[in-house]
Amino acid sequence: MKILVTGGAGFIGGNFIHYMVNKYPEDEIVNLDLLTYCGNLETLKPVEGKKNYRFIRGDIADRPFIFDLFEKEKFDVVINFAAESHVDRSIEDPAIFVKTNVLGTTTLLDAANAYGVKRFHQVSTDEVYGDLPLDRPDLFFTEDTPIHTSSPYSSAKASADLFTLAYFRTFGTPVTVSRCSNNYGPYQFPEKLIPLMISRALADQKLPVYGEGLNVRDWLHVYDHCTAIDLIVREGKVGEVYNIGGHNERTNMEVVKTILNALGKPESLIEHVTDRKGHDRRYAIDPTKIEKELGWKPVYTFETGIPGTIRWYVDNQDWWKHILSGEYKDYFKKMYGNRLK
Ligand code: NAD
Ligand code: TYD
Repeated sequence: MKILVTGGAGFIGGNFIHYMVNKYPEDEIVNLDLLTYCGNLETLKPVEGKKNYRFIRGDIADRPFIFDLFEKEKFDVVINFAAESHVDRSIEDPAIFVKTNVLGTTTLLDAANAYGVKRFHQVSTDEVYGDLPLDRPDLFFTEDTPIHTSSPYSSAKASADLFTLAYFRTFGTPVTVSRCSNNYGPYQFPEKLIPLMISRALADQKLPVYGEGLNVRDWLHVYDHCTAIDLIVREGKVGEVYNIGGHNERTNMEVVKTILNALGKPESLIEHVTDRKGHDRRYAIDPTKIEKELGWKPVYTFETGIPGTIRWYVDNQDWWKHILSGEYKDYFKKMYGNRLK
């Protein structure tokens, strides 16, 4: 199979490429990424040079480029991770979220239709469901929970998600959609809660917790997200949505204290700062459908997954220090400068 993975220089797409390149040596994995501020080819170092892996730089919203690429490459499967992904940035500048997340996804869908792709998988998010109240721990997001978004990020992701399902209904495009909870693990850009807090704690800098820090997120190790997507693409039913999550709800304060504890740093580093606008209170996934229908089971709980993740950021300080210093942007030039336009 020839598989196009978009956004493969990002956190989850990068982990997915590592997973796929090693698991399926007979498949051809093509990574298409624009290398925006958070695309980092240093993440792909472990697979560079593998016979079944290739990188192409480009924009999923660039229609002529995408159509040329699909015509030339004849992909069997497209898995769309590429997105603007940070809620705080979407509050500052929503327009790029519409361009990449909505226009980019519909451009890929059109190309998938035009060139007969056998499966189009859209990597969506549980944030399309909006949030749950803090005082109703009995409530969970199921695939039938109404879409009810809060932020420009989640609105753009919901739009892409709905377009994907509309292409199935209208054109018969063979799509699947997954809506996953918050991920953690290696190679996450240090603007997101967990890597941000680890990198700042290691430097004895203040840890900015929004509001009281009582908002709840449902944390899944990125490895488990990768196994779920692989399974959905190979065995999921077209036209279907699958929630992905492992019942690992934690308040932000619990997460931050876990990190401080593991690093032997004092809780006095925590600083409560002005809350995020429209801040979602609680996310919580009901994964019954993917467990029952596809037999998916996560390997990690938060307790078993977080120590190795913290250790990874301690052991791989070059990776995130290059990001903080801007050096990671030179890597593309060094590796590809003379080979690509
Ligand atoms: P990320 O921000 O780390 O990576 C996004 C990647 O997309 C980057 O490499 C970036 O360069 C690339 N990209 C951005 N615009 C592009 C464009 N126009 N054309 C081509 N490439 C472009 O994001 P992530 O955390 O890895 O998330 C990946 C996907 O998973 C996103 O679609 C996100 O909505 C979804 N998701 C994320 C989480 C999470 O907890 N991080 C949870 C559920 C779903
Ligand atoms: P984030 O990693 O941005 O993911 P999302 O907003 O998509 O869930 O944030 C996770 C939680 O952590 C969210 O409730 C906001 C909170 N948060 C902070 O308290 N401080 C921070 O500096 C950041 C980035 C997030």
